[in-house]
Amino acid sequence: MTPPASQVINPQASHHFKSRTCSILAVGSCLPARVLANSELEKMVDTSDEWITSRTGIKERRIAARHEHTSDLATKAALLALQRAGVGPEEIDLIVLATITPDMPFPSTACAVQRKIGAARAAAFDIEAACSGFIFALEIGRHFVMAHTYDTVLVIGAEKLSSITDWKDRNTCVLFGDGAGAAILRHRPNAHGLLTTCLGSDGNKGDLICMPGGGSQCPASAHSVAAGMHFLRMNGKEAYKSAVNAMCLAAREALRRCGTDISRIKCVIPHQANRRIIDAVAERLGAAPEQVFTNLEKYGNTSAASVAIALDEAVQAGRIQRGDLILLIAFGSGLTWAAAVIEW
Ligand code: ACO
Repeated sequence: MTPPASQVINPQASHHFKSRTCSILAVGSCLPARVLANSELEKMVDTSDEWITSRTGIKERRIAARHEHTSDLATKAALLALQRAGVGPEEIDLIVLATITPDMPFPSTACAVQRKIGAARAAAFDIEAACSGFIFALEIGRHFVMAHTYDTVLVIGAEKLSSITDWKDRNTCVLFGDGAGAAILRHRPNAHGLLTTCLGSDGNKGDLICMPGGGSQCPASAHSVAAGMHFLRMNGKEAYKSAVNAMCLAAREALRRCGTDISRIKCVIPHQANRRIIDAVAERLGAAPEQVFTNLEKYGNTSAASVAIALDEAVQAGRIQRGDLILLIAFGSGLTWAAAVIEW
Protein backbone atom coordinates (compact mmCIF):
# COMPACT_ATOMS: atom_id res chain seq x y z
CA MET A 1 0.00 0.00 0.00
CA THR A 2 1.35 3.49 -0.85
CA PRO A 3 2.00 5.52 2.33
CA PRO A 4 0.25 8.90 2.65
CA ALA A 5 2.29 11.78 1.17
CA SER A 6 2.93 13.25 4.63
CA GLN A 7 5.00 10.20 5.55
CA VAL A 8 7.29 10.30 2.54
CA ILE A 9 7.87 13.98 1.80
CA ASN A 10 9.50 14.84 5.13
CA PRO A 11 9.78 11.73 7.28
CA GLN A 12 11.39 13.61 10.18
CA ALA A 13 8.59 16.14 10.42
CA SER A 14 5.70 13.90 9.44
CA HIS A 15 4.64 13.16 13.01
CA HIS A 16 5.07 16.71 14.24
CA PHE A 17 3.05 19.34 12.49
CA LYS A 18 2.89 21.26 15.77
CA SER A 19 6.08 23.13 16.65
CA ARG A 20 7.53 22.98 20.17
CA THR A 21 9.39 25.39 22.41
CA CYS A 22 13.18 25.60 22.68
CA SER A 23 15.06 26.34 25.91
CA ILE A 24 18.66 26.88 26.91
CA LEU A 25 19.52 23.91 29.15
CA ALA A 26 22.89 25.25 30.26
CA VAL A 27 25.66 27.66 29.31
CA GLY A 28 29.45 27.65 29.64
CA SER A 29 32.31 29.95 28.78
CA CYS A 30 36.08 30.00 28.44
CA LEU A 31 38.50 32.89 28.81
CA PRO A 32 42.20 32.51 28.08
CA ALA A 33 44.46 32.78 31.13
CA ARG A 34 46.62 35.69 29.93
CA VAL A 35 45.39 39.07 31.19
CA LEU A 36 46.41 42.18 29.23
CA ALA A 37 45.85 45.24 31.42
CA ASN A 38 45.53 48.83 30.25
CA SER A 39 48.87 49.57 31.95
CA GLU A 40 50.60 47.18 29.53
CA LEU A 41 48.92 48.81 26.52
CA GLU A 42 50.34 52.14 27.72
CA LYS A 43 53.77 50.69 26.92
CA MET A 44 52.72 49.46 23.46
CA VAL A 45 50.85 52.48 21.98
CA ASP A 46 50.30 56.14 22.81
CA THR A 47 47.37 55.66 25.19
CA SER A 48 46.55 55.78 28.88
CA ASP A 49 44.51 53.80 31.37
CA GLU A 50 42.55 56.98 31.98
CA TRP A 51 41.62 57.38 28.26
CA ILE A 52 40.63 53.73 27.83
CA THR A 53 38.64 53.61 31.07
CA SER A 54 36.78 56.87 30.54
CA ARG A 55 35.99 56.24 26.82
CA THR A 56 35.20 52.53 27.00
CA GLY A 57 35.00 51.21 30.59
CA ILE A 58 37.53 48.48 29.73
CA LYS A 59 40.31 47.81 32.29
CA GLU A 60 41.75 44.57 30.93
CA ARG A 61 41.14 41.87 28.34
CA ARG A 62 42.17 38.21 27.85
CA ILE A 63 44.59 37.14 25.13
CA ALA A 64 44.82 33.57 23.81
CA ALA A 65 48.23 31.89 23.63
CA ARG A 66 49.87 31.43 20.24
CA HIS A 67 48.91 27.73 20.15
CA GLU A 68 45.37 28.41 21.48
CA HIS A 69 42.93 28.74 18.59
CA THR A 70 39.30 29.86 18.40
CA SER A 71 38.20 26.19 18.30
CA ASP A 72 40.14 25.48 21.52
CA LEU A 73 38.31 28.24 23.41
CA ALA A 74 35.03 27.09 21.85
CA THR A 75 35.69 23.46 22.82
CA LYS A 76 36.31 24.34 26.48
CA ALA A 77 33.15 26.48 26.65
CA ALA A 78 31.13 23.71 24.95
CA LEU A 79 32.39 20.95 27.25
CA LEU A 80 31.48 23.03 30.31
CA ALA A 81 27.98 23.72 28.97
CA LEU A 82 27.51 20.00 28.15
CA GLN A 83 28.63 18.98 31.63
CA ARG A 84 26.25 21.45 33.29
CA ALA A 85 23.38 20.29 31.06
CA GLY A 86 24.12 16.62 31.74
CA VAL A 87 24.27 16.03 27.99
CA GLY A 88 26.86 13.85 26.27
CA PRO A 89 28.63 14.99 23.06
CA GLU A 90 27.17 12.02 21.20
CA GLU A 91 23.68 13.44 21.85
CA ILE A 92 24.37 16.65 19.89
CA ASP A 93 22.55 16.81 16.56
CA LEU A 94 23.82 20.19 15.37
CA ILE A 95 26.64 22.64 16.13
CA VAL A 96 26.25 26.28 15.03
CA LEU A 97 29.33 28.38 15.74
CA ALA A 98 29.44 32.16 15.31
CA THR A 99 32.83 33.79 14.74
CA ILE A 100 34.74 36.35 12.68
CA THR A 101 38.06 34.72 13.60
CA PRO A 102 37.72 31.10 12.45
CA ASP A 103 40.73 28.81 12.88
CA MET A 104 41.09 29.06 9.07
CA PRO A 105 38.82 30.14 6.18
CA PHE A 106 37.70 26.54 5.78
CA PRO A 107 36.86 23.95 6.95
CA SER A 108 34.58 25.51 9.53
CA THR A 109 35.58 26.01 13.15
CA ALA A 110 32.33 24.23 14.07
CA CYS A 111 33.71 21.08 12.41
CA ALA A 112 36.95 21.45 14.41
CA VAL A 113 34.87 21.65 17.61
CA GLN A 114 32.83 18.63 16.53
CA ARG A 115 36.07 16.62 16.24
CA LYS A 116 37.53 17.93 19.51
CA ILE A 117 34.46 17.18 21.65
CA GLY A 118 33.60 13.91 19.86
CA ALA A 119 30.13 14.94 18.67
CA ALA A 120 30.21 12.27 15.99
CA ARG A 121 26.52 12.48 15.03
CA ALA A 122 26.36 16.27 14.71
CA ALA A 123 26.09 18.37 11.59
CA ALA A 124 28.28 21.45 12.06
CA PHE A 125 28.67 24.84 10.41
CA ASP A 126 29.85 28.39 11.11
CA ILE A 127 27.90 31.60 10.77
CA GLU A 128 29.28 35.12 10.49
CA ALA A 129 27.32 38.02 11.92
CA ALA A 130 30.20 39.58 13.92
CA CYS A 131 29.20 40.74 17.41
CA SER A 132 25.54 39.80 16.78
CA GLY A 133 26.60 36.26 15.84
CA PHE A 134 25.64 34.46 19.05
CA ILE A 135 22.04 35.74 18.92
CA PHE A 136 21.79 34.92 15.19
CA ALA A 137 23.09 31.40 15.99
CA LEU A 138 20.60 31.00 18.86
CA GLU A 139 17.77 31.85 16.49
CA ILE A 140 19.01 29.32 13.92
CA GLY A 141 19.26 26.63 16.60
CA ARG A 142 15.82 27.50 17.98
CA HIS A 143 14.17 26.91 14.63
CA PHE A 144 15.77 23.48 14.20
CA VAL A 145 14.46 22.46 17.63
CA MET A 146 11.02 24.03 17.13
CA ALA A 147 10.62 22.24 13.80
CA HIS A 148 11.58 18.87 15.37
CA THR A 149 14.43 18.58 12.86
CA TYR A 150 16.92 18.21 15.73
CA ASP A 151 16.56 17.60 19.46
CA THR A 152 19.87 18.90 20.79
CA VAL A 153 21.75 21.88 19.39
CA LEU A 154 25.07 23.31 20.58
CA VAL A 155 25.39 27.04 19.89
CA ILE A 156 28.76 28.76 20.31
CA GLY A 157 30.17 32.28 20.01
CA ALA A 158 33.97 32.19 19.93
CA GLU A 159 36.73 34.62 18.96
CA LYS A 160 40.47 35.07 18.89
CA LEU A 161 40.30 38.76 17.98
CA SER A 162 43.92 39.23 19.07
CA SER A 163 44.84 37.43 15.82
CA ILE A 164 43.33 40.23 13.66
CA THR A 165 44.20 43.17 15.93
CA ASP A 166 46.75 45.74 14.78
CA TRP A 167 48.76 46.10 17.99
CA LYS A 168 50.20 49.37 16.68
CA ASP A 169 46.79 51.03 16.19
CA ARG A 170 45.59 52.68 19.40
CA ASN A 171 42.15 53.29 17.87
CA THR A 172 41.35 49.58 17.90
CA CYS A 173 43.88 47.56 19.93
CA VAL A 174 42.56 48.79 23.29
CA LEU A 175 39.04 47.54 22.56
CA PHE A 176 39.17 43.81 21.84
CA GLY A 177 39.83 40.50 23.58
CA ASP A 178 39.53 36.72 23.16
CA GLY A 179 37.04 34.20 24.60
CA ALA A 180 34.14 31.85 23.95
CA GLY A 181 30.68 31.05 25.26
CA ALA A 182 28.35 28.12 24.53
CA ALA A 183 24.73 27.13 25.09
CA ILE A 184 22.90 23.79 24.83
CA LEU A 185 19.44 24.08 23.26
CA ARG A 186 16.63 21.57 23.69
CA HIS A 187 12.88 21.46 24.20
CA ARG A 188 12.08 21.64 27.92
CA PRO A 189 8.53 20.55 28.74
CA ASN A 190 6.37 23.30 30.30
CA ALA A 191 8.97 26.01 29.60
CA HIS A 192 8.71 28.83 27.06
CA GLY A 193 12.47 29.25 26.61
CA LEU A 194 13.55 31.37 23.65
CA LEU A 195 10.49 33.53 23.00
CA THR A 196 11.47 35.71 20.10
CA THR A 197 14.31 37.51 18.38
CA CYS A 198 14.64 40.57 16.21
CA LEU A 199 17.52 40.32 13.73
CA GLY A 200 18.62 43.05 11.33
CA SER A 201 21.37 44.05 8.93
CA ASP A 202 22.51 47.07 6.88
CA GLY A 203 25.05 46.11 4.23
CA ASN A 204 25.33 49.75 3.14
CA LYS A 205 27.45 50.39 6.23
CA GLY A 206 29.72 47.38 5.77
CA ASP A 207 32.85 49.49 5.65
CA LEU A 208 32.40 50.90 9.18
CA ILE A 209 33.89 47.77 10.76
CA CYS A 210 35.70 45.35 8.48
CA MET A 211 38.82 43.35 7.70
CA PRO A 212 39.45 44.07 4.01
CA GLY A 213 42.12 41.43 3.29
CA GLY A 214 42.14 37.66 3.06
CA GLY A 215 38.89 37.12 1.13
CA SER A 216 38.23 36.72 -2.59
CA GLN A 217 38.16 40.51 -3.06
CA CYS A 218 41.67 40.96 -1.72
CA PRO A 219 43.51 37.64 -1.34
CA ALA A 220 46.58 37.55 0.86
CA SER A 221 49.66 38.95 -0.85
CA ALA A 222 52.86 40.70 0.16
CA HIS A 223 51.06 43.96 -0.65
CA SER A 224 47.95 43.14 1.42
CA VAL A 225 50.10 42.23 4.42
CA ALA A 226 52.27 45.36 4.07
CA ALA A 227 49.13 47.51 3.81
CA GLY A 228 47.71 46.03 7.03
CA MET A 229 44.64 44.68 5.27
CA HIS A 230 44.46 41.59 7.49
CA PHE A 231 43.70 43.68 10.54
CA LEU A 232 40.29 44.75 11.84
CA ARG A 233 39.51 48.36 10.89
CA MET A 234 36.81 50.48 12.46
CA ASN A 235 35.27 53.93 12.15
CA GLY A 236 34.60 54.13 15.89
CA LYS A 237 32.51 57.30 15.94
CA GLU A 238 30.07 56.16 13.24
CA ALA A 239 29.92 52.62 14.66
CA TYR A 240 29.05 54.12 18.04
CA LYS A 241 26.06 56.07 16.70
CA SER A 242 24.75 53.12 14.69
CA ALA A 243 25.22 50.79 17.67
CA VAL A 244 23.03 52.81 20.03
CA ASN A 245 20.25 53.25 17.46
CA ALA A 246 20.26 49.67 16.23
CA MET A 247 20.42 48.07 19.68
CA CYS A 248 17.47 50.16 20.89
CA LEU A 249 15.47 49.38 17.75
CA ALA A 250 16.11 45.63 18.03
CA ALA A 251 15.34 45.52 21.76
CA ARG A 252 12.07 47.47 21.43
CA GLU A 253 10.94 45.29 18.53
CA ALA A 254 11.74 42.03 20.36
CA LEU A 255 9.86 43.25 23.47
CA ARG A 256 6.92 44.34 21.32
CA ARG A 257 6.73 40.96 19.59
CA CYS A 258 6.51 39.29 23.03
CA GLY A 259 3.86 41.71 24.21
CA THR A 260 6.05 42.73 27.14
CA ASP A 261 8.06 45.76 28.27
CA ILE A 262 11.41 46.52 29.85
CA SER A 263 10.01 46.66 33.39
CA ARG A 264 9.34 42.89 33.24
CA ILE A 265 12.91 42.07 32.21
CA LYS A 266 15.00 40.71 35.09
CA CYS A 267 18.34 41.02 33.33
CA VAL A 268 19.47 42.84 30.19
CA ILE A 269 22.61 41.33 28.66
CA PRO A 270 24.03 43.72 26.07
CA HIS A 271 26.99 43.20 23.76
CA GLN A 272 30.03 44.33 25.76
CA ALA A 273 31.61 46.80 23.31
CA ASN A 274 31.68 50.05 25.25
CA ARG A 275 30.36 51.14 28.64
CA ARG A 276 29.00 54.38 27.15
CA ILE A 277 27.06 52.48 24.46
CA ILE A 278 25.56 50.18 27.11
CA ASP A 279 24.60 53.12 29.35
CA ALA A 280 23.04 55.04 26.45
CA VAL A 281 21.03 52.00 25.33
CA ALA A 282 19.87 51.26 28.89
CA GLU A 283 18.80 54.85 29.41
CA ARG A 284 16.84 55.02 26.14
CA LEU A 285 15.13 51.70 26.89
CA GLY A 286 14.28 52.82 30.42
CA ALA A 287 16.27 49.99 32.04
CA ALA A 288 17.52 50.59 35.58
CA PRO A 289 21.27 50.12 36.12
CA GLU A 290 20.65 47.07 38.34
CA GLN A 291 18.83 45.36 35.43
CA VAL A 292 21.89 45.56 33.16
CA PHE A 293 24.72 43.01 33.31
CA THR A 294 28.23 44.11 32.31
CA ASN A 295 31.64 42.45 32.43
CA LEU A 296 33.46 44.44 29.75
CA GLU A 297 35.88 45.89 32.30
CA LYS A 298 37.46 42.39 32.48
CA TYR A 299 37.24 41.19 28.88
CA GLY A 300 36.71 44.10 26.47
CA ASN A 301 34.83 43.41 23.26
CA THR A 302 34.95 39.69 22.38
CA SER A 303 32.58 40.06 19.39
CA ALA A 304 30.47 36.89 18.85
CA ALA A 305 31.55 35.54 22.26
CA SER A 306 30.57 38.66 24.20
CA VAL A 307 26.86 38.05 24.87
CA ALA A 308 27.47 34.32 25.44
CA ILE A 309 30.18 34.94 28.05
CA ALA A 310 28.10 37.61 29.78
CA LEU A 311 25.06 35.29 29.83
CA ASP A 312 27.13 32.55 31.46
CA GLU A 313 28.56 34.93 34.08
CA ALA A 314 25.11 36.35 34.84
CA VAL A 315 23.73 32.83 35.37
CA GLN A 316 26.67 31.71 37.52
CA ALA A 317 26.37 34.91 39.59
CA GLY A 318 22.72 34.10 40.34
CA ARG A 319 21.48 37.17 38.49
CA ILE A 320 19.09 34.97 36.47
CA GLN A 321 16.76 32.30 37.86
CA ARG A 322 14.54 29.83 36.00
CA GLY A 323 11.34 31.63 34.94
CA ASP A 324 12.97 35.08 34.72
CA LEU A 325 12.61 37.07 31.51
CA ILE A 326 15.94 38.19 30.05
CA LEU A 327 16.82 40.40 27.09
CA LEU A 328 19.96 39.89 24.97
CA ILE A 329 21.01 42.77 22.68
CA ALA A 330 23.91 42.94 20.23
CA PHE A 331 25.38 45.02 17.42
CA GLY A 332 28.31 44.44 15.11
CA SER A 333 30.00 44.53 11.75
CA GLY A 334 27.84 44.01 8.69
CA LEU A 335 26.23 46.02 10.02
CA THR A 336 24.20 43.54 12.03
CA TRP A 337 22.04 43.84 15.12
CA ALA A 338 19.96 41.46 17.18
CA ALA A 339 17.85 41.15 20.30
CA ALA A 340 16.31 38.11 21.96
CA VAL A 341 13.76 37.75 24.74
CA ILE A 342 14.13 34.53 26.70
CA GLU A 343 12.17 33.04 29.56
CA TRP A 344 15.04 31.49 31.46
N1 ACO B 1 44.24 56.32 23.50
C1 ACO B 1 44.30 57.67 23.43
N2 ACO B 1 43.72 58.37 22.47
C2 ACO B 1 43.01 57.71 21.54
C3 ACO B 1 42.88 56.31 21.54
C4 ACO B 1 43.55 55.64 22.58
N3 ACO B 1 43.49 54.28 22.67
N4 ACO B 1 42.12 55.94 20.51
C5 ACO B 1 41.76 57.06 19.86
N5 ACO B 1 42.29 58.13 20.48
C6 ACO B 1 42.18 59.51 20.13
C7 ACO B 1 41.78 59.71 18.70
O1 ACO B 1 42.92 59.66 17.88
C8 ACO B 1 41.15 61.09 18.71
O2 ACO B 1 42.18 62.04 18.68
P1 ACO B 1 42.01 63.36 17.76
O3 ACO B 1 40.79 64.06 18.31
O4 ACO B 1 43.30 64.08 18.02
O5 ACO B 1 41.82 62.84 16.38
C9 ACO B 1 40.52 61.14 20.11
O6 ACO B 1 41.12 60.11 20.88
C10 ACO B 1 39.03 60.95 20.12
O7 ACO B 1 38.68 59.86 19.34
P2 ACO B 1 37.18 59.52 19.12
O8 ACO B 1 37.07 58.58 17.98
O9 ACO B 1 36.37 60.77 19.12
O10 ACO B 1 36.82 58.74 20.46
P3 ACO B 1 35.40 58.24 20.89
O11 ACO B 1 34.94 59.01 22.05
O12 ACO B 1 34.44 58.08 19.73
O13 ACO B 1 35.72 56.74 21.39
C11 ACO B 1 35.62 54.44 20.61
C12 ACO B 1 36.29 55.82 20.48
C13 ACO B 1 35.90 53.94 22.02
C14 ACO B 1 36.21 53.49 19.60
C15 ACO B 1 34.09 54.59 20.40
O14 ACO B 1 33.85 55.37 19.26
C16 ACO B 1 33.38 53.27 20.27
O15 ACO B 1 33.25 52.51 21.23
N6 ACO B 1 32.82 53.00 19.09
C17 ACO B 1 31.95 51.81 18.87
C18 ACO B 1 32.69 50.53 18.80
C19 ACO B 1 31.71 49.41 18.54
O16 ACO B 1 30.67 49.31 19.12
N7 ACO B 1 31.98 48.51 17.62
C20 ACO B 1 30.98 47.55 17.24
C21 ACO B 1 31.33 46.18 17.35
S1 ACO B 1 32.94 45.74 16.84
C22 ACO B 1 32.78 44.36 15.81
O17 ACO B 1 31.79 44.17 15.20
C23 ACO B 1 33.99 43.45 15.68
